[in-house]
Amino acid sequence: MNKDTITMTNNRTNEQYDFNILDATRGPSVVDISSFYKETGMFTYDVGYTSTASCKSNITFIDGEKGELRYRGMLIEELAENHSYLETCYLLLNGHLPTTEQLLDFDLELRHRSFIDESLHHLIDAFPDAAHPMSILASGVSALASFYYEHLNMKDEQECQDMARRIIAKIPTLAAFAYRKSLGIPFIYPNIDLSFTENFLYMMRAYPGGKMKRTANGEEKIKPIEIKALDTIFTLHADHEQNASTTTVRNVASTGAHPYVAISAGISALWGRAHGGANESVMAQMEMIGDVKNVDAFIERAKDPNDEFRLMGFGHRVYKNFDPRAKALKKLQDQLKDELNLDSKLMDIAHRIEEIALNDEYFIKRNLYPNIDFYSGVILTALGIKRPMFTAIFVIGRTVGWITQLMEFKNDSSSKIARPRQLYLGS
Ligand code: SDX
Repeated sequence: MNKDTITMTNNRTNEQYDFNILDATRGPSVVDISSFYKETGMFTYDVGYTSTASCKSNITFIDGEKGELRYRGMLIEELAENHSYLETCYLLLNGHLPTTEQLLDFDLELRHRSFIDESLHHLIDAFPDAAHPMSILASGVSALASFYYEHLNMKDEQECQDMARRIIAKIPTLAAFAYRKSLGIPFIYPNIDLSFTENFLYMMRAYPGGKMKRTANGEEKIKPIEIKALDTIFTLHADHEQNASTTTVRNVASTGAHPYVAISAGISALWGRAHGGANESVMAQMEMIGDVKNVDAFIERAKDPNDEFRLMGFGHRVYKNFDPRAKALKKLQDQLKDELNLDSKLMDIAHRIEEIALNDEYFIKRNLYPNIDFYSGVILTALGIKRPMFTAIFVIGRTVGWITQLMEFKNDSSSKIARPRQLYLGS
């Protein structure tokens, strides 16, 4: 018997089938069922792909049981504490951390690519003031495809790198413009003297003319601790294996569509409150709970199968232990509590939810732990970022992951157009 196969018996026909086992360098092996339909005349069935690997990848590894996350083999804790978001972007894109010189070149290139075509202002202006930033972001990124269409050759490595660096650099500008549009205030252009993360906060906060708020002590500066906090948040969001929005990006890319419309589709998928939109819902939920004494009643609602209320920021398809990013954010919260004057009432509510949920049979039995979205909102609020911008912050962090996964898909000669089948129950 071939040890590297799984043998399956169809008990209706007594036919036996062998399928090859493919081993991973980390984590579970897979059973190659690509010939399953041809051999058995049947489809496999896996709603939501809970047990299905859709591709091979060298980028990000998650061990859901241990609560471990690695980008190109490096632990997320190591990256979040000792490296910048730009170093993490370079690592994801190139498979290794940059040298000092490579990082400088990468940083300067992104600064000079951070501007968007003037005519995109008209697109953003066409939205109603109350437009959600995610709607503007998805549209703006899709529109970028029209500005970089002709000369895009995905077979050319340099053009791929240009395409990737361009979108990573422009997303913060589009996000900041979307925010300022929602306030009805003039856009602030990128400042190439500032780092990636400081520049984003500058574009969000500066007054027309590029001046920061004036106080009795002069111009209010963006604090280094604020830049470090947001930079860490970007790093923690950079990639996450084959999540719903990354799968969307790969699926759209599989049809040969322009990479930027694939990213735009990823932005739309991320917006859902079961996915990246959860960070906004967590804060709405905390504010709805309002006080620590109301937490118990909400926990009971979350457990009630007849109540559609869910505890936002809890649970994960892969993590059946603490999300290591949630741990890193909780540690960051504790570090920043005094320096950023975090909202202690919201933190008390969050800690009470966590304390109850982690000791309650309902959550324990289902392996429901806080995920990345549970803690990010309190820090973002302290950075002056309004709740409708929370998922846009997730987009800024995740764009490098999406574009890296897209390029991996394009470079994999075994890639195919995504076209699953179905269990037909119709007439
Ligand atoms: C992200 O995939 C990724 O990697 C995503 C992400 C990334 O970086 O890309 O990590 C980012 O999207 C994080 C998740 C943010 N979403 C939320 O916080 C929304 C709340 N969480 C849930 O909606 C849910 O936990 C999901 C969507 C995250 C996971 O859903 P699954 O894996 O399909 O699990 P399920 O819905 O089948 O739930 C299993 C059980 C069910 O109970 P039973 O039917 O077995 O009795 O757990 C229950 C669910 O009712 N459950 C919850 C719950 N989450 C699951 N009950 C109460 N509150 C919750 N939050």
